[in-house]
Amino acid sequence: MLAKPGIQTISAYQGGRPVEEVQRELGLADAIKLASNENPLGPSKHALDAMADAATSVNFYPDGNAFYLRNAVAESHGVEPEQLLFGNGSSEVLQILGQTYIAPGDHIVFPQQSFVVYSLMGAIFDARTTTPPMKADTYDLRAIAAAVTDETKLVLIANPNNPTGTYVTKAQLDAFFDAIPSSPLVVLDEAYFEYVDRHDYPDGLDYVRAGRNVIVTRTFSKAYGLAGLRVGYGVASVDVVEMMNRARPPFNVNALAQAAALAALEDVAHVDRSREVNAAGMDYLTSALSGLGVAYVPSVANFLLVHLARDGRSVTEALTRRGVIVRPMQAYAYPHSVRVTVGTAAQNERFISALGEVLAEIPEAS
Ligand SMILES: Cc1ncc(COP(=O)(O)O)c(C=O)c1O
Repeated sequence: MLAKPGIQTISAYQGGRPVEEVQRELGLADAIKLASNENPLGPSKHALDAMADAATSVNFYPDGNAFYLRNAVAESHGVEPEQLLFGNGSSEVLQILGQTYIAPGDHIVFPQQSFVVYSLMGAIFDARTTTPPMKADTYDLRAIAAAVTDETKLVLIANPNNPTGTYVTKAQLDAFFDAIPSSPLVVLDEAYFEYVDRHDYPDGLDYVRAGRNVIVTRTFSKAYGLAGLRVGYGVASVDVVEMMNRARPPFNVNALAQAAALAALEDVAHVDRSREVNAAGMDYLTSALSGLGVAYVPSVANFLLVHLARDGRSVTEALTRRGVIVRPMQAYAYPHSVRVTVGTAAQNERFISALGEVLAEIPEAS
């Protein structure tokens, strides 16, 4: 009982189950993982080559300031290199934010049914949290603005949101910033930014450039296909980055990850192809789900929240037995839903065919 009170209230983060683990446990040969919103096309070939080159120097510590990656990302985003903070995944950027800004009892705001790491952060740093409800599976920015006070330290907004795949528009975000005091730091978590293709979707970097008290987080884990390497970053004012750098662990982004992320950033064709495959897969999945009479939340990201009117865990287990790994959504207070990542055409077809069987096997919850 020596652990901090907040730690005692939570369970460890549960990721999607690895393919190898499921295959080993169930004696399957060809399971597919559609559980963690990873890129089904794999990494860029250029990233693999860059890693092989960098591997010969791993007797040295990595560049703790990620010089080449920093300059390339700064140039591609039109910001100063000093406005960037790199992390071992954008999850670590969130963790460093907590370490830098949240003292016990500080007030933070994020909605219910958003990325589960936010509530873990609240507990780990012993924050006071307010979690306004969502509206129609979407962030209700008015409710969030109403919960923000002069004392609020952090507001967390995933845009698009995980697990719903919904987004807030530029007009909504503008109105939100007009409605809140300038004091809290607003986190715009844009892990799925590269997938969104909507004219009214805001680019969080515009708010950083306009001098708002904002940090945008992005990642190489999704459209760039490098989830296993763990590289993400935050973009904010030089002052915010300078403070966060004090809490950043030394050498937090490893040398292979830096080399691969730089190559992946430059491989625009791979990201374009990833977007195309995702858009085609999303079209297929949504019409196939409708064909099965299944409800889902329309998504602008690379995953779908699927409402099944059945216990989500039972459905997940039955799909896993058929070699299709998805994510149950109890932890997000959607007990009758699963989240599925858009895969390749063959993977999507396999998911739909397995789901059809499972729906016939498991009766609807009363
Ligand atoms: C909304 C959101 N933010 C952040 C992350 C963290 O991604 P990573 O730590 O791999 O950059 C995820 C991963 O699923 C996510 O869904």
